[in-house]
Amino acid sequence: MDQDNNIVWHNQTITKDERTVLLGQKPCIIWFTGFSGSGKSTIANAVELELFKRGRKTYLLDGDNVRYGLNKDLGFSENDRVENIRRVGEVAKLFVDSGLIVLTAFISPFKSDRQIARNLVKDDEFIEVFIDTPLEICEQRDPKGLYKKAREGVIKNFTGISSPYEAPQAPQVHIKTDGCSVQECANIVVKYLIDFGYIKEGANNEN
Ligand code: ADX
Repeated sequence: MDQDNNIVWHNQTITKDERTVLLGQKPCIIWFTGFSGSGKSTIANAVELELFKRGRKTYLLDGDNVRYGLNKDLGFSENDRVENIRRVGEVAKLFVDSGLIVLTAFISPFKSDRQIARNLVKDDEFIEVFIDTPLEICEQRDPKGLYKKAREGVIKNFTGISSPYEAPQAPQVHIKTDGCSVQECANIVVKYLIDFGYIKEGANNEN
């Protein structure tokens, strides 16, 4: 019982374990982190497509998209970014409980926030994937023209320019994207999922 708010946890009949058996996959969060323009969303999309082709049940939470809805009240101050990641962590946790393989693509620049998200689920339910694209390359690509605006001071608190990015020290998957195609990067993640028993090998729908 939460003494302050008079709320009591209600136990639900169907458990995560039962959903896991039903879906034939081990639910988890695949947490992509990296600079804006590093390729997080693109690679996460490619991974989701591979999983979909294999009949796996997934959902992708993408930074820009979530900021259109659930998190549209948040900006890019340090406090807002902390809250952004806290909410995403909680939503991802619910999806894991529902049996899904959840992919998240957020810059998530602060180590402590990623750790908080990790702590919401079991140890082996959180797979940190560092999309390691050097800042110079992200800035050259500048797909949304935001780095230019950040350099001009039009956008404040821009990660890598006027706000820090704390790179993961020991991610489960470290992808150096330089010289690697999107498909090759996606395959690295899929291989990890197979090697560690999150999904079975083979492109079919069988559980
Ligand atoms: S996070 O830092 O809170 O994790 P999130 O992944 O949700 O960021 O959103 C990042 C996206 O918002 C970027 O890809 C970019 O399109 C846009 N954006 C707008 N302003 C900023 C900013 N100041 N810093 C970083 N990204 C920004």
